[in-house]
Amino acid sequence: MKLQAVRGTRDILPDEVGAWHAIEKAARELFARYGYREIRTPIFEPTELFARGIGAETDIVSKEMYTFEDRDGGSLTLRPEATAGVVRAVIEHNLANTDPSLKLYALGPMFRRERPQKGRYRQFHQVDVEAFGFTSPTIDAEVIELALGYLDACGVTRHELVLNSVGDRHCRPAYVETLRAALRERAAGLCGDCQRRAETNPLRVLDCKVPQDQPLIDALPRIGDHLCAECRDHFAEVQRQLALLGIPYRLSHRLVRGLDYYVRTTFEVTSDQLGSQSSVLGGGRYDGLVKELGGPDLAGIGFAVGLERLTLLLPARGPEARCDVFLLPLAAGALDHALTLQRALRGAGLRALLDPEGRSFKSRMKQADRLGARFAAILGDDEIARGVWSVRDMAGSTQQDVPRDGVLDYLKEKANG
Ligand code: HAM
Repeated sequence: MKLQAVRGTRDILPDEVGAWHAIEKAARELFARYGYREIRTPIFEPTELFARGIGAETDIVSKEMYTFEDRDGGSLTLRPEATAGVVRAVIEHNLANTDPSLKLYALGPMFRRERPQKGRYRQFHQVDVEAFGFTSPTIDAEVIELALGYLDACGVTRHELVLNSVGDRHCRPAYVETLRAALRERAAGLCGDCQRRAETNPLRVLDCKVPQDQPLIDALPRIGDHLCAECRDHFAEVQRQLALLGIPYRLSHRLVRGLDYYVRTTFEVTSDQLGSQSSVLGGGRYDGLVKELGGPDLAGIGFAVGLERLTLLLPARGPEARCDVFLLPLAAGALDHALTLQRALRGAGLRALLDPEGRSFKSRMKQADRLGARFAAILGDDEIARGVWSVRDMAGSTQQDVPRDGVLDYLKEKANG
């Protein structure tokens, strides 16, 4: 049997990794400007954390988690998202005590057993941002600004911000009942999934993509008409500040998100370049979650970007240069000079390489080209006799003799200049 990566997982190959480094670097640089610090939490957590945090009725918890029994009988789960683990860590280490306005970000793999397709994997990566202790709508607008700023910093230009308010514990329960009642009347016309959700989690019906269901769903009662005064004011202020910041958005009463912890502001960023998995980023406010998981009554808001989907949106990158100086010891006895020079170049911070297999001059020059070498340093019989290295500038195709004892300084200066 041929061994292969597990379905829904993928290798990020060396040629792709430059793009990943770039988006990780962009995250670290931009998030620091907004006051966020990195946190790294474990990849597995007690199953109960996700069941309580994300919601037992959600698709994620009810059918997509990688859950296994530990040897001592405890139930563990590979994290399907980052928020629950970050909240657990905030509670466990009392992070909000020392920092009442706590801004954290996390990077890493997440696991969901979804049906694999373009942009949808069973192991995927997120950049995740969470802010704790802020109740004012100003942080909602700032987090959204940061989310879009991050996509911009990565070079993603074509996207749309979709915005909604899903109410809070004061107004949402009554809306959910209104929705349930409306769904009961129309259930017969809806798909099987919707009929089930109408009872278990009526909000999820709004997320249905089945074409025949759309006219019925569009006619359902809308959350925007059922918000309490506080939620309405909060949402109006978020929108006012987004307008102030010049951030365009589209309102969608059907944006309910797949996790139960959200209250008030929810948002997604979609791209028409992604196919059916069009959401590259999703987030929202989750006041109440920290308390629900046993911590203080602390507001929360954040978002996560799917990095596989983000990389699909990036402009193609050419191959990266991987070498500053490629050494070609050709003459007998040249290898020893080359090895000491290579070590010295590396010590000076340059990327120096040579071919220890002694292939032909032509094939070594080809290799230097493939590596994107800026300089080739050649040591043949003639150079040995004259006490020089012949240094070729690969881009300019010019070649120069450099005395052996000055070659290190010469290359250092040229490569850094
Ligand atoms: P989410 O919408 O479930 O939110 O996921 C955020 C992003 O992760 C999605 O927009 C998508 O780009 C990516 N993603 C999700 N599932 C997959 C998959 N199977 N394959 C590839 N990419 C995927 C959350 O996870 C929340 N924790 C976000 C959040 C943080 N809300 C508040 N704070």
